[in-house]
Amino acid sequence: MTIDAQALHEQLREARAELGHQQITALFDADPQRHERYQCQSNGLVVDFSKHLINDHVWQSLIELASAHALPDAFTALVAGHCVNTSEGRPALHTLLRGTAVEQHPENAAAVHDALARMETLVTRLHKGEDTGWTEQAFTDVVNIGIGGSDLGPRFICDALKTPEAPLRAHFVANVDPEDLDRTLASLDPARTLFVVCSKSFTTEETLSNARRAKAWLQAAGAPPNDLGQHFLAVTTQVTHAQQWGIPEARCLPIWDWVGGRYSLWSAMGLAIPLALGWSAFEALLRGARALDQHTLESPPADNVPIMMALLEFWQTRYLSTNTHAVLPYAQRLQHLTDFLQQLTMESNGKRVSTSGEPLSSDSAPVLWGSVGTNGQHSYYQLLHQGTRSFSADIIFPLISGGGDLPARRSLAAHALAQSRAFMVGRSPDEAKEIGASRGFNEGECRQLEIPGNHSHSLILMDAVTPECLGGLIAAYEHKTYFLAVLLGINAFDQWGVELGKEIAATIEPLLQTAGASVDSDALDPATRQAALAWHQANEK
Ligand code: F6P
Repeated sequence: MTIDAQALHEQLREARAELGHQQITALFDADPQRHERYQCQSNGLVVDFSKHLINDHVWQSLIELASAHALPDAFTALVAGHCVNTSEGRPALHTLLRGTAVEQHPENAAAVHDALARMETLVTRLHKGEDTGWTEQAFTDVVNIGIGGSDLGPRFICDALKTPEAPLRAHFVANVDPEDLDRTLASLDPARTLFVVCSKSFTTEETLSNARRAKAWLQAAGAPPNDLGQHFLAVTTQVTHAQQWGIPEARCLPIWDWVGGRYSLWSAMGLAIPLALGWSAFEALLRGARALDQHTLESPPADNVPIMMALLEFWQTRYLSTNTHAVLPYAQRLQHLTDFLQQLTMESNGKRVSTSGEPLSSDSAPVLWGSVGTNGQHSYYQLLHQGTRSFSADIIFPLISGGGDLPARRSLAAHALAQSRAFMVGRSPDEAKEIGASRGFNEGECRQLEIPGNHSHSLILMDAVTPECLGGLIAAYEHKTYFLAVLLGINAFDQWGVELGKEIAATIEPLLQTAGASVDSDALDPATRQAALAWHQANEK
């Protein structure tokens, strides 16, 4: 029987009405074992969704919705290399990069294998000091020059898995603001610094500006022109352009159009990861992602981690009408997770029309934000607990995250679990009155102490912040993002919205350089012209 998505939509709307003023705590009172059912797990991850505002009616309808939208088939199609990036006519084969379904893609699998072999050889030579700079000294530092998907993933992983005995110190430069590169280079030795220029297109202005200035920095330090190429590696689809820029072909690693930038850390785009952490760590990262891929291929929706994550977000945004999704990792090692997930989810699903161009009937991606616990508790949690905004959240809870002082780690864990509980139970009017009375508060002042709670959220437990577990977590979010796109009927793999800003910047730049430039400044509004001229006067002395 084909389950009708429209009928399920009505069921979920009715279920939403049923749950209208229900408290999550009451759902626990009615079924103290709900946490045993409302969870799914894979490869060191446990997604506990028992603190979501759902009951069996909702859960069952969501699972049926997964079938109605054929989510399992959609994933099989992605892994098989179907043209899931419809507007650009491309597959999205980031799963192949970590060895999933290699048998379905002999040619591309061979290309991936060759690229990984070249990466491993390069990494080994660099770690052994066999590949050196112009003074024939071994490199000590690697600077990744890239932005967006050519920066955020490797930056996050290198920081999350950093160890004191790093074979090379990794640094990341993304912004065109010269401060970014200058601050990074200030403490580095040009003779012992390697640059990896990461750009699928090899046209990204920020990356080319930083690469140009890095080259100038080496030249200013005395690097002979013929030896400059030894200090650069490139990762790009445009090897010819990289060679013309000055990077020898042997030092250019490939990436392909069938890999989206924000899904590319598993490829040579992630070269900084094995350079900084060692080859075995990179292999473990790939292994963890591959295992999660397999889990996603094999598991029925109710036990499928990414499918359940997607269904829960769909329930939150479409039916509970939450507009933002907070990711709150309780581990300093995961401090860059949210930055990475922002591009992954919002550049993928920040869309307003379907793949056929129809305006969407409801909101697409929520705004994803957040930061490490416990820091956020001293910043924006007040709004979460007593503000007027609804939100959903993933509290990421590693059981092991590095070593370090056990009492301090125990405190971190207590806060993570405390916030999850506080999101659910809040503080009732009676409790507020009791506390207020002890402080001599009047009735109005007692109401300042009330906390509504009842905020739906997932508690995502990780065995540990290890390469393998992290690979699984990232793959889970990648597939969650894709499943949401299928549920919404949108393309997760293009990003036409980012082109406009670049085009307008090109018309403004001449005005900044030459006051009253001959550009068609009438195409600009008077406010922009005024600000541009102010900048010109402040800078172009
Ligand atoms: O933000 C737009 C974007 O194209 C991203 O999708 C991409 O990750 C980033 O810019 C960098 O692009 P490239 O790797 O081509 O330099």
